Amino acid sequence: MKAPSTSANLGSGFDVVAVAHDAYFAEAYASVGSGCGVHVKFKGFDPGSDNTVTRAFVRLFDILGICRGVEVEVVNNIPVARGLGSSGASAVAALAAFLREAGMKVDPRIVVEAAGHGEAAAAGSPHFDNVAGAALGGAVVITSLNPLDFVKFSPRLTFVVGVPDVPPTPNKTKLMREVLPKSVDFKTYVKQISRVAALVAGFARSDPALVARGMADEVVEPARAPHVPGYSRVRKYVMEAGALAVAISGAGPAVVALVNEKEADAVRSAVLRAYAEEGIKAEAKVAQIAEGALET
Ligand code: HSE
Repeated sequence: MKAPSTSANLGSGFDVVAVAHDAYFAEAYASVGSGCGVHVKFKGFDPGSDNTVTRAFVRLFDILGICRGVEVEVVNNIPVARGLGSSGASAVAALAAFLREAGMKVDPRIVVEAAGHGEAAAAGSPHFDNVAGAALGGAVVITSLNPLDFVKFSPRLTFVVGVPDVPPTPNKTKLMREVLPKSVDFKTYVKQISRVAALVAGFARSDPALVARGMADEVVEPARAPHVPGYSRVRKYVMEAGALAVAISGAGPAVVALVNEKEADAVRSAVLRAYAEEGIKAEAKVAQIAEGALET
């Protein structure tokens, strides 16, 4: 099964919004045998024995009150530790492959719950935005954390995803969560709510201008931007090239710009030029909204 890369948060929607895009995919193959236990083999990057996939299975079996003997192979083509939901997509693809192989149909909320808890292996704490995006595809909004619930929209949106080739920071997401402010003043809180409302309304109407308004963020981005290599130059150049908005993708360091299709190539070039001037090797892709692992 195949799960797409995702950009969580999309500006104001911290931990509750993600879009799935076709920039990259993680794939997983599962076989179900006798016994009880999960053996995961990673092709390419190997995160070690305590990883999101294994944790996601433990949680899934716990929720369902079952255990199975599962062999999983994960081929993850999503750049790791870039803020593109690589670990979450691996877990979602693996769970989806297992469920298909086992002939089991479960509520998508259970899959997202299990994979979101798996994220603690990579991020230090569970979060559900990336995994909801990878599972459901489209643009996903978490509407309740406990009990977990979400709504999926299927807007037509075009993005440019910029991925700097910088050495991965160990515990990056955990560190990027530690730099966040502990409190927010009330005026800022109200402004942020209106932005999240704009994101949701923009998804519902498939309106890029509204989504762009929601991608502004004066809480998380200012705290994280100084730790994201090249971000301020990328932001400047992509806006000059005609992007509608730009945000840090998840906890970074990748960036995601929302564009009109006709500006996509110019924005992609602007991303590459900005990173080049910062002395950072990078890749940039034009991407559309993708389907999720449970949808295919
Ligand atoms: N919402 C999470 C964060 C996503 O921004 O920390 C991590 O990819």
